[in-house]
Amino acid sequence: MRRPVIAANWKMYKTHTEAQLFIEGLRNRLQSKDYERVEIVVCPPFTSLRTVQTTIDGDDLEIALGAQDVHWEEEGAFTGEVSALMLEKLKVRFVIVGHSERRQFFGETDEAVNKKVKSALAHNLTPIVCVGESKEEREAETTEEKVRSQVQKALSGLKQEQVASLVIAYEPIWAIGTGLTASKEDAQQTIAFIRETVEARFPGAGSHVRIQYGGSVKPGNIAELMHQPDIDGALVGGASLDPEDFSLIVRYGE
Ligand code: 13P
Repeated sequence: MRRPVIAANWKMYKTHTEAQLFIEGLRNRLQSKDYERVEIVVCPPFTSLRTVQTTIDGDDLEIALGAQDVHWEEEGAFTGEVSALMLEKLKVRFVIVGHSERRQFFGETDEAVNKKVKSALAHNLTPIVCVGESKEEREAETTEEKVRSQVQKALSGLKQEQVASLVIAYEPIWAIGTGLTASKEDAQQTIAFIRETVEARFPGAGSHVRIQYGGSVKPGNIAELMHQPDIDGALVGGASLDPEDFSLIVRYGE
């Protein structure tokens, strides 16, 4: 019922020529059944969006284009920012919002995340809303409190059907880029909790919203994660930079 979504978050990696080579490498490794089973999303830096979009379109590939951030205004005096309207016109379909690196290094607040989610939805972009606890919060057993608060604030003021249409990525901060993955049981448990939190606020949306796991996802651990009942895909950092690794992840390690 919920179509899995596997997304590559390249972060600040790859020039536009490297991005093109990656898409060609991925295309050569995937078969039509891979595109049918999962929704594949690639989120390059802004500078590679156009190149990736023309490469995808030129080959008629069923790969969705995603961005890594967005500003909440359509236009204005906001040096360095990019709007949802601009992304929409570039055929971008997804946008990552509230990644922990943006929260940690660029001071992104829950309120900013909420405004970005609303602007993305207003421009037909599917937000991938990132939430997750730090190592200290996990040790203090406040993981549920943290993700509940992040989810409720990010989705504040949305309509039920908007919430049903978006993607949430549960990314424990201590698992990002560290090689440490949450156990499949812990990931399942927290993701089921996020689903309950969504359902409590937006009755009916809980069974539709797709929730990914992110944090050191690799070809070797994707299968066990995808076998969990509430895990609907993955947001992949490091392992998404290599077309071989990413194609294996899309195929659940097979
Ligand atoms: P890694 O897969 O490199 O741990 O990164 C996860 C992530 O932050 C994806 O958004």
